[in-house]
Amino acid sequence: MILYGARGQAKVIYDLILSNNQLLEYLVDDHPPATFPHHLEVFLPTKELLLNKKVIIAVGDNKIREKIYHEIKEWCEFETMEHHSAYVSRFVEIGQGTVIMPKVCINAEVKIGMHCIINTASVIEHESVIEDFVHISPNAALAGNILIKKGAHIGLGANVIQGVTVGENAIVGAGTVVLTDVPDYAVVVGNPGRIVRFVGEEK
Ligand SMILES: CC(C)(COP(=O)(O)OP(=O)(O)OC[C@H]1O[C@@H](n2cnc3c(N)ncnc32)[C@H](O)[C@@H]1OP(=O)(O)O)[C@@H](O)C(=O)NCCC(=O)NCCS
Repeated sequence: MILYGARGQAKVIYDLILSNNQLLEYLVDDHPPATFPHHLEVFLPTKELLLNKKVIIAVGDNKIREKIYHEIKEWCEFETMEHHSAYVSRFVEIGQGTVIMPKVCINAEVKIGMHCIINTASVIEHESVIEDFVHISPNAALAGNILIKKGAHIGLGANVIQGVTVGENAIVGAGTVVLTDVPDYAVVVGNPGRIVRFVGEEK
């Protein structure tokens, strides 16, 4: 297996690979860092290094993960991975390239798209839909029947109540309690969640 990305997200995914007794061959990164755990080599990405390999895009930023996906998707396959401590219902669909980190709980009839990060100890309740390139941060809790649209980021420890839709590329801040639908590109914080700006707007 190959990781694309060699920063923080790659370190935790490397740890996941080791916990699952799998083998990481090497990493690629557009700006290779000086060191990586276990002295693993980090190369500049090339077609030759990725061709027909099983790859995980190990980058936390949703937009960058999506950009890399479009750049390399013709060359390689994408691995889907879950930590052995996660509980994933047998009635769950998970797309290619998605990683499920330790202690996650995903309940019945949840659908998760491709290249999502379902981070440590987050909970996704029954019949919810998580679209492509979403990041659910550690300890976030999503109730049943919610929809998280493409590219949205749910922050650390946020809570989203049942039936809510979080729009495309929206950001839900750390600790936010989301009680109503969040528009596309909105940045929402607090309890109850309120819009503080839209992604791309001047602060
Ligand atoms: C929501 C977030 C993206 C906002 O970042 P930002 O656009 O740089 O916003 P600012 O820091 O300028 O804050 C804007 C206002 O919102 C408040 N605010 C920001 N984040 C908040 C949060 N999580 N909860 C409550 N209020 C928050 C700030 O205090 C500020 O209030 P003020 O205008 O009264 O001073 C960021 O604070 C956040 O929570 N990110 C999530 C981090 C995370 O979960 N990382 C996990 C990685 S795995």
